[in-house]
Formats: sequence, C-alpha cells, structure tokens
Amino acid sequence: MTQRLLRGRTLSFRRRPEGVGDLDALVFEEDGALLLMDGRIAAAGAFDTIAADGVPVEDHRPHLILPGLIDAHLHMPQLRVMASWGTELLDWLARYTFPEEARCADPAHAQRMAAALFDRLLAHGTTTAAAYCTSHLASAEAFFTEAARRNLRMIGGRVMMDRGAPEALLDTAETAYDETAALMTRWHGVGRAEVAITPRFAITSSAAQLEAAGALAAAHPDCPIQTHLSENHAEVALAAELHPGAPDYFGIYQDHGLAGPRSLFGHCLHLTERERAAMAETGSVAVFCPTSNLFLGSGLFDMAGLETQGLRTAIASDIGGGTSSSMLRTLSEGYKVLALQGQRMDPLTAFWRATLGNAEALSLSDRIGTLAPGTEADIVVLDAHATAEMTLRMETVESLAEELFVLQTLGDDRAVRAVYVAGDPIKAAPAP
Ligand code: GUN
Ligand code: ZN
Repeated sequence: MTQRLLRGRTLSFRRRPEGVGDLDALVFEEDGALLLMDGRIAAAGAFDTIAADGVPVEDHRPHLILPGLIDAHLHMPQLRVMASWGTELLDWLARYTFPEEARCADPAHAQRMAAALFDRLLAHGTTTAAAYCTSHLASAEAFFTEAARRNLRMIGGRVMMDRGAPEALLDTAETAYDETAALMTRWHGVGRAEVAITPRFAITSSAAQLEAAGALAAAHPDCPIQTHLSENHAEVALAAELHPGAPDYFGIYQDHGLAGPRSLFGHCLHLTERERAAMAETGSVAVFCPTSNLFLGSGLFDMAGLETQGLRTAIASDIGGGTSSSMLRTLSEGYKVLALQGQRMDPLTAFWRATLGNAEALSLSDRIGTLAPGTEADIVVLDAHATAEMTLRMETVESLAEELFVLQTLGDDRAVRAVYVAGDPIKAAPAP
C-alpha cells in the first residue's frame, strides 16, 4: 500500500465561484495536507488534523497544491504544427496540419508524438485531456498505450474523416465505425481511458459517416463525443454547402444524434440563436480555445452570452491551432479574449474552469478536478514566485485571488513545481 502525505497550501473548489469575493466556493487550507493512498486522496484537511503516523511528509509549503489541470480539447499529433504562420483555418489545415497528421500512418511516429504530448502536458501540470488522434487506428493505439503506461486519465479518439483531405488521411463510414468500435472494446473504461467518438468536423465527414458516428453514440451512450463547430466564417459557409438539408451547422450534428451532455464542440464562435438554444437544450458543451482563436484569427468566444443562455462551457489549449500546451497560458489568453468583449474572468473562476469546471464539462467530476477524499490523486503544485517578474509582482499581492491571477498571467511550466499522477510524483518533488 503506497502512502504519501503532501503538505502545503491546498486549494480546490466545491462549486463554481460567483465572483472574486466568493470564498465559500473554495476549499482552502493555508497549512493543509493530503493523504494519498493507492492512487486516491484518502484524506484532506488542515495538516494537524490528518492522522498519518509514519507516513513521510512531502513538504510543498509555501506553494499551492491544486487538482491536476484539465484540458478539454487538443490534437495529439499537432505539437509540430504549433507556430505555423500566415493562414486561416481551412488553409492552415490543408497546408500544415493534414500533411503532419499523415505522418502518423507510421506507428513509430505516432508513438513519439503521444509520448511528447504527455511529456509536455505533465510539465505544464495538465493531468487529463480530451484529445484527437488521427484517422489512423495506430495513432489512437499509441495514445492509449502511452497513457496507460503512465497511468493517466485520458480521453482520446480516432479521428473520422472521409472527404475533403488528402487521400492518406481518408477513411470511410465503415472503417471509422469499425475501428472506433474496436478501440472502445480494447480501451474504453480500461484503467483510466475513455474512448471518444471523434468525427473531425462536418467539412471532412459525409452524411453517411456522421450517421455511422451517431449509430456508435446510440450504442455507447457512455462514450464522449468530440468535434468542431462554427470556428471560422468560411468553414461555416462550406458546412452549409456540404449539408444542404440541415437547419444550420449545429443542426448537422444534432440531426445525426451527436448532440448531448457528453458532446464537446470545439470553438462555437459564430453560432446563431437557434444553435445556441439547441446546444443549451441538449446539454452540449461549447469549448473555448482562446490561443487558437486568436492565432487563427477565428473570432472571440462569447462566454457570458453563451452561459446566460444556459450553455455548458469548457476551456482548452487546442494544440496545435493553439499556441501553448499550458493551461495557465490558456487562462491568461482567455482572460484577454473576454476582456476584448467587456467580459471579465476573475481568477477564482479561471482556476475553477481549469479544474472542477472542466471536470464537470467532461462528466468526470466524481473522479478528478477536486481534492475531495475518494477521488483520484492527480495533483499539481504551483509556485507563484517561479520567475523574477512573478517574485517582484508578488511583493504587492495581498490575497489568494491576486496570487492566482499572477500565476495565470505570468506563469508557465516554470511555475509547476511538482505533479502527481494517481498518487505518484512524476515531476521533481522536493527533497524530504
Ligand atoms: N477543425 C477541424 N480540424 C481542426 C483542427 O485540427 N484544428 C482546429 N483548430 N480546427 C479544426
Ligand atoms: Zn481542435
């Protein structure tokens, strides 16, 4: 029985904060402790109340101990696409992304990209992600094999795409169905893996393929679904042209049984009133990808408008349209995208989003996203004095909320002092 006692300033959320003054939403201990046992959090509270005789203490004071960060949308094979300049979405896909994804036909390349992805995510304190692999079964196999080797809780999907891309990436409705079904049998619910039904988007899936995806979703209602929606004006127009019978872009997915509480729709920037209402009604999740939306010039995510209309939302890096693997950088750019629209994301809400909020959006909050006893011990330790700029700024910080804002605005992987996956340290823990 492996046991560990972490000491530090423990912070998680019991619910969504209603603003920067809503300290009741927090579970915070200035001198806190977490007892980790067999991959789970066995006890949490003030250090002097946690009885753990004989268990060695890993002392992280004065740093913050939070649940591992969660990324609700990224592309496993696109680390080498990040920072490819000069185009909007459809050109960027054709010019940079599809050729790079085609390389995952080679299982050795897919394996290298999966390992590189997890190395980068963990360096940034991200312990769970919802990921697109490529249309090659081998890429998803590499993803799940590597995630299992590291005992990571991961959602992944073999991308379905049967048109509108180079031949080397195209499948058919049948192979997309069969290979995703095979992946589910092999991986879904095995260890910490979940297999997502992953039609790339309505541009690269025929109606027949979306039908097949919908049939899989009906047969496997516990599997997540992930796709892209309304990211770019040219894409929206092309989707309407390719699916003339549908009421609108979201309607294409809805008509094929792909809307619902486990459905994650990346971007959602140019939705109509009907689409917003239908997304809210079906409990579908709109995923905010700020660095990607800025980088590709796609548009501004209307968080306040969507949430006022009852939509569920999440936040994500969108590697490699996104420009950082870090959820701290993602929160920082998210703050700016919302500020451009006169909206504010306070730091408590920001960190709620990257932890419990995203866990709820992925329907995983009973397992991850808090420091509640019984949940899985995925943990990040954050240091708000990690750089010279942060240290100077911290001289004038007077509250936890201000400290969190420094972390999200100035922080990156240098601020990640330690990471635990299912109770085991994987990024340098301090000497005892
Ligand atoms: N839409 C369809 N595929 C992609 C992708 O790989 N990245 C982004 N940002 N949008 C997409
Ligand atoms: Zn994406």
